[in-house]
Amino acid sequence: MKAHLWWQYGSIYQIYPRSFADSNSDGIGDLPGILTRLDYLQDIGVDAIWISPIYPSPMADFGYDVADYTDIHPLFGSMADMQALLQACHARGIRVILDFVPNHTSSEHPWFVDSRASRTSAKRDWYLWRDAKPDGSPPNNWLSVFGGSAWTWDETTRQYYYHAFLKEQPDLNWRHPRVREHMYAAMRFWLEQGVDGFRVDVLWHLIKDEEWRDNPPNPDYLPGQVPYAALIPAYSTDQPEVQGIVQEMRAILDQYDERVLIGEIYLPIHRLVTYYGTAGDGAHLPFNFQLITLPWKAGQIAAAISEYEGALPAGAWPNWVLGNHDQPRIASRVGLPQARNAAILLLTLRGTPTLYYGDELGMRDAVIFPENIQDPQGKNIGVSRDPARTPMQWSAGSNAGFSEAPPWLPLGHDYEHCNVESQTGDRASMLTLYRRLIALRRTEPALSVGSYHPIFTEGEVLAYIREAEGQRWLVALNLSPRPALLPLDAIGSGQIVIANETRRETHRVQDRLILSGDDGVLVRLD
Ligand code: GLC
Ligand code: CA
Repeated sequence: MKAHLWWQYGSIYQIYPRSFADSNSDGIGDLPGILTRLDYLQDIGVDAIWISPIYPSPMADFGYDVADYTDIHPLFGSMADMQALLQACHARGIRVILDFVPNHTSSEHPWFVDSRASRTSAKRDWYLWRDAKPDGSPPNNWLSVFGGSAWTWDETTRQYYYHAFLKEQPDLNWRHPRVREHMYAAMRFWLEQGVDGFRVDVLWHLIKDEEWRDNPPNPDYLPGQVPYAALIPAYSTDQPEVQGIVQEMRAILDQYDERVLIGEIYLPIHRLVTYYGTAGDGAHLPFNFQLITLPWKAGQIAAAISEYEGALPAGAWPNWVLGNHDQPRIASRVGLPQARNAAILLLTLRGTPTLYYGDELGMRDAVIFPENIQDPQGKNIGVSRDPARTPMQWSAGSNAGFSEAPPWLPLGHDYEHCNVESQTGDRASMLTLYRRLIALRRTEPALSVGSYHPIFTEGEVLAYIREAEGQRWLVALNLSPRPALLPLDAIGSGQIVIANETRRETHRVQDRLILSGDDGVLVRLD
């Protein structure tokens, strides 16, 4: 048995398929488009791609409203295109992870059409139907993540149905054995096709309180926060019973070779780690979003890394994420100079890194005029995710080399200088930094599978040592624009291999390390 599996030493690259590459000039990215860009993916050195949903869908939530779990939306291509992509990726040693959306279907899924047709439908209980309260109001106070009540009244059958997201995304009843059977069959279908794993959408939402108790008000709620945050989702998410489902999903994957189960879970660390299971029988990688949710402060990040490392159950493998299609881009959250430190952090922490397409260029949130908003979350509660979903910036050419047609979302205004073509071969570019970090990670076991030792510092320097097979690396990142000093007496001397200030590379350091504002370095210790 190999000591580490591909999803432990490798890195994962998220592709938002609508926005990666358009092959047929309709302004929307597709599977054949991804196929034409495999050289690029191989060149930056990622080990796997995760593709956001490509299934048939009315696109109320851009594919997260699935109408058929075992087919491909014609916008994205065909089953044959999917097979061609799988084959071509595998030929290059790139794994393919699909997004799987089990919590809810589209309201146009035949199951829901049937379920809502009458109270006696055989599929009535596949979804969550409840009577109104005597005064006609919804069964409880639960809120939709996308705003308003999570309950929608159905006039035909005179009951409410529950939807954690849009009313076009009714939640499935995961206590129903037939629902489980069908969803597991869909997972097997894709595993048989050769996909290497799943990123499971909102995994912590699958089971809801059987008594449908009201969620308590959030005492820390501040005006200006999203309406959903007004309540603590104590009864609508993260119910103990969900762990049984995670185990069942894992058991399915375990029947195949080296497949990976990733869970999308936004929870505090002590709850998050329960999704690993108790005996290595849960998710391989419950997504760890701390680098997204924490303020960009050295002390807070250092504490969170240690808290996470300390909370991992025996045998659990860590992971880190900087961005995804639901969050502002890292370069817009922390600024471009710090986005370089974020890259170093992501790719030198212990655990599997997940990159979001375009972050390797330092793509920033694009400006989207209110009248052009596509995202339902943006339309409903004013928190649009469109800015982080704009077309991949391949070149300074027309439509940034993404498509021959005007793209479905506007381009980032900086695409003429922030693109793959202009950054390739530029030693100081973000793309070059990512390439070199990924390459180094691949050749240095200390950086991928090595142990992690924090160095406690004062001020805004985040520092740690990674170590394996007698090799030690120091990572020191100055998270502030002011200069800083790190004493090295207790650490040792070494040579700078990667630095944001590239002229420092190959310099030797001993006694102390000087970091100018925003600098970050990777030092091979003697
Ligand atoms: C997940 C997805 C998000 C989607 C939501 C509902 O959070 O990442 O894009 O809107 O689930 O499916
Ligand atoms: Ca297309």
